[in-house]
Amino acid sequence: MEIESSEEILTFFQNLLKSTDTIIIIADADVHIKFWNEKAEQFFNIKESSVRGRKLSAIAIPQFIKPVMEAVKEAVEKRWQVFLPDLYIRQENDIGRYIGLNVVPIYLQSGTHAGFLIDGKDITETREIKRQNEESQKFRAIGEMAAGIIHEINTPVQFIKNNLQYLNACSDELRSWFNTPGSEGKREILSTLEDFPEVLHQSIEGIDRITSIIRSLRNYAHPGYDKPVPFSPTQALEDAVTISENQWKHIARLHTRFSEKPIMVQGFPSLFSQAMVNMIINATHAIEERFGDDALSKGIIEIELEEAGSRVVIHISDNGMGMTEEVKSRIFEPFFTTKPPGKGTGQGLALVYTAITGKHRGSIHVDSLSGEGTTFTIEVPKG
Ligand SMILES: Nc1ncnc2c1ncn2[C@@H]1O[C@H](COP(=O)(O)OP(=O)(O)OP(=O)(O)O)[C@@H](O)[C@H]1O
Ligand SMILES: [Mg+2]
Repeated sequence: MEIESSEEILTFFQNLLKSTDTIIIIADADVHIKFWNEKAEQFFNIKESSVRGRKLSAIAIPQFIKPVMEAVKEAVEKRWQVFLPDLYIRQENDIGRYIGLNVVPIYLQSGTHAGFLIDGKDITETREIKRQNEESQKFRAIGEMAAGIIHEINTPVQFIKNNLQYLNACSDELRSWFNTPGSEGKREILSTLEDFPEVLHQSIEGIDRITSIIRSLRNYAHPGYDKPVPFSPTQALEDAVTISENQWKHIARLHTRFSEKPIMVQGFPSLFSQAMVNMIINATHAIEERFGDDALSKGIIEIELEEAGSRVVIHISDNGMGMTEEVKSRIFEPFFTTKPPGKGTGQGLALVYTAITGKHRGSIHVDSLSGEGTTFTIEVPKG
């Protein structure tokens, strides 16, 4: 195809914009709609002819218009594009779809503000695939930890059972004393009762332990929310420590230092716990690799959570084998692993990265010395 005149060029680009699979909306500096392509017509079920020339703010799709108008304002202030990664738009006869949008302010060569380009992609399917990946990663981790968790629950169940059998035998004994006329009773009864407080106390502790494991597991296995919810990062970290206990307790000592203050953040609690579990397991592997059979006496994992102004800061440190610069530069890549098949798939930190930076609008930073250990620092905004 040969394009010669500027008119032809214009038509060529108009056709391109019209038929592309991207939603494209162009507005002037007063945010009146000038262009609304076929994909936009299809996605919003609104014809271009009925919106051209109208103010964008007057279009009756509140879930779309409200954030877009805010982004328009921000784009003008920053003189730079604003990205809305994940907008949920309810559609007629449908459960709704998700789009990722860019709002780009357009400037002429003279610097005059001419309008806006809004381009959007329907991300419903890719979002669903990502969610399923997170979900399957989560359940794979539960699968790996299941034996350990069952063991963790089974131990207190066993001693609670022993205690109940003991109490049962005692109650038989007490009954027979009461039923035997002339038996002195009191001293024997007292000596039988002597162990009761300890036995009962131990059993209650055992039940508390089981309850806490089950609660953590339930939080972790929660299918997740569609929208961010307020949750306690401290609780999410405690859940992570609890359900991964059987992974780390044979390899390292784990110390936690959590701020006493109740702290809340906005986000996805079970995804957050999942990210923390991934990091604890990585620390465990690094320690095992460095110390081998001496791991339990030498390995230390330290987890801290504190407030710093408007943010929550979490440090996860281990004195494991650390990383070389080359490894460090690649750890967040999906499927990057230095572990043998069966031990790692390289998806742990990729999930941590999207969970923290994307879903919780936070940041993650790693310090590591090869042969000495690693510290991850995670920051997320409070909310
Ligand atoms: N605490 C750590 N100390 C040393 N190296 C680490 C640590 N955490 C991660 N790494 C390195 O980063 C790589 C990627 O970690 P990631 O969690 O993404 O995958 P993985 O642990 O190998 O596999 P998966 O988590 O999917 O089971 C690891 O293979 C390891 O080389
Ligand atoms: Mg990992």
